[in-house]
Amino acid sequence: MDLGFLFLDQSWSLMQLRSLLCASVAFSLLAATLVVVAVDNSTYYVPRDDILLNCGASGQASSFDGRSWTGDTGTRYAPSLNGDGFDALRQDPSVSTVPYSTARVFTSPFTYRFPLSAGRKFIRLHFYPSDYSNHAVSDAFFSVTSGPYTLLHNFSSYLTADALNFAYLIREYSVNVSTGGLNLTFIPSTTHPNSYAFINGIEIVSIPDLFSSATPLLVDGDDGHIVYTIDPDQALETVYRLNVGGQAIPPIEDSGLFRSWDDDSPYIYGAAFGVTYSNDPNVTITYPTSVPSYIAPPDVYSTARSMGPNAQVNLNYNLTWILPVDAGFYFLVRLHFCEIQYPIVKINQRVFDIYLNNQTATEEADVIGWSGGIGIPVYRDYVVMTMGRGQMDLWVALHPDTLSKPEYYDSILNGLEVFKLQNSNNSLAGLNPGARSQLYVDPRDVRKGSAKHKSEVPVIVGVIGAFAVLLAVICLIGMCKCQKNKKMKKGKGAVTSNGPYGLSPLSLYGNARSAVSAESNLCRYFYIAGIKAATSDFDESTVGR
Ligand SMILES: *[C@@H]1O[C@H](CO)[C@@H](O)[C@H](O)[C@H]1NC(C)=O
Ligand SMILES: *[C@@H]1O[C@H](CO)[C@@H](O)[C@H](O)[C@H]1NC(C)=O
Ligand SMILES: *[C@@H]1O[C@H](CO)[C@@H](O)[C@H](O)[C@H]1NC(C)=O
Ligand SMILES: *[C@@H]1O[C@H](CO)[C@@H](O)[C@H](O)[C@H]1NC(C)=O
Ligand SMILES: *[C@@H]1O[C@H](CO)[C@@H](O)[C@H](O)[C@H]1NC(C)=O
Repeated sequence: MDLGFLFLDQSWSLMQLRSLLCASVAFSLLAATLVVVAVDNSTYYVPRDDILLNCGASGQASSFDGRSWTGDTGTRYAPSLNGDGFDALRQDPSVSTVPYSTARVFTSPFTYRFPLSAGRKFIRLHFYPSDYSNHAVSDAFFSVTSGPYTLLHNFSSYLTADALNFAYLIREYSVNVSTGGLNLTFIPSTTHPNSYAFINGIEIVSIPDLFSSATPLLVDGDDGHIVYTIDPDQALETVYRLNVGGQAIPPIEDSGLFRSWDDDSPYIYGAAFGVTYSNDPNVTITYPTSVPSYIAPPDVYSTARSMGPNAQVNLNYNLTWILPVDAGFYFLVRLHFCEIQYPIVKINQRVFDIYLNNQTATEEADVIGWSGGIGIPVYRDYVVMTMGRGQMDLWVALHPDTLSKPEYYDSILNGLEVFKLQNSNNSLAGLNPGARSQLYVDPRDVRKGSAKHKSEVPVIVGVIGAFAVLLAVICLIGMCKCQKNKKMKKGKGAVTSNGPYGLSPLSLYGNARSAVSAESNLCRYFYIAGIKAATSDFDESTVGR
């Protein structure tokens, strides 16, 4: 991989983009408000269990989005906790006080016991790396288990948040609970001196059957894909959940499952951003019976990213997302599609190929052919296998399919989810990221390893590249002055707000990325408006033959 060019291309295009955008705040705001979606809230899922535990605290408190959290002091899920925990000694003003200002600290194994109805749940663990009392932030190394499943092992939220440049972390898991309920155990690592476990917030939400009805294709070579069966007891971890071509969607705007959907633009490869757009005003998102509305909210299907108006340009590139993941696991990749703009209403108008990790997942993908019409959502599941240990990049790429001779040489994606599947040891745990300086591994050390480890050289370069790109994005966004902060009073103290949803902790991973999301989206609407104006008509110039 040519790291230099990747970095330069990205900064160059963003720089141009930003300077254009920053001059036009008012216009982008106006454009953003034009995104109107018809929503039928009546079909939203209502979870039977919806537990929000504010660890280390007592009483009730609301997070910035109005959800009510209950302190874990004296909770029936852990009756032995009869005094409050510790306050975070560092309080980042951008981080919500509930649940992040208090934590429960454990120096020996501790179990919360949740008596729950049987069925699938999301478990969300909220971590704010900080010193707590006399416990140093860098000493927290611990495991978390849920029944037979290891969710985290030797986990350092400090190293993880530092590598990602996030203020706090949310980890989301899905497990199928049997009638015995669910135990969540925090176990300090024994190998690190003074190590302890901590937790700021625990969220448990019942969910419908999102996974076992899926029949993903195992992408394992060129042809003859086989269906990979998702076991009813399979434990999964959400790794990415992206609203492609749209804005971040906070938990309270999800279709009942309190999921966070992030902006996809930080993951686009190089400068090939394509174009993003939302549904034509007279197109309503209409869920077929095969796609219940809880699969993804209308906001996901009503925005999309495609390649652009020029067929020749599109034929010369792949619209590519690069997603760093833990190597050595299988991943369920769920792609959400919906055609939302005229004139694409018929079969064989827009047909494309889908590649996962450079292997063909589907040829001749035709969203209208799959869904039956404009405004009708459809999704497709794939399973990819990865080898080795440490971090690697998962590649998701789209390219026009020429063999089917479609009317337009283009591709489209509306949403992208990546779930890690438990390995044969019932574990979902990856390794801690190296501290930033340790990423510069001497290639000779890598070469000493077995043949399998050869692939780690590009992997390490890829990780550095991903960080560089992320840093470049964050820096450039810092330069863009189109963000307005407003003060907001909530709970114990005043907190600073970022972006349109009030406080920023909407991302699955933490606030840094959310701040990026809100702003880059704001900017992007102008970009699309500009593209449309400049090309005068998306329709006629896209003719691919
Ligand atoms: C949970 O597991 C049980 C028993 O294995 C199975 O019958 C049920 O369908 C599973 N539920 C889901 C949502 O996967
Ligand atoms: C929606 O608008 C498009 C033009 O943008 C038009 O071609 C189409 O006929 C309209 N459909 C309906 C149902 O009004
Ligand atoms: C896919 O191909 C690109 C370049 O062709 C390479 O850099 C990357 O490592 C490949 N990804 C995988 C997962 O093989
Ligand atoms: C798109 O990706 C596929 C799979 O990695 C690769 O074979 C192909 O060469 C790529 N096309 C372009 C134009 O980059
Ligand atoms: C725990 O993680 C740290 C930091 O990545 C690492 O140095 C240490 O070797 C790990 N310990 C175990 C027992 O895996």
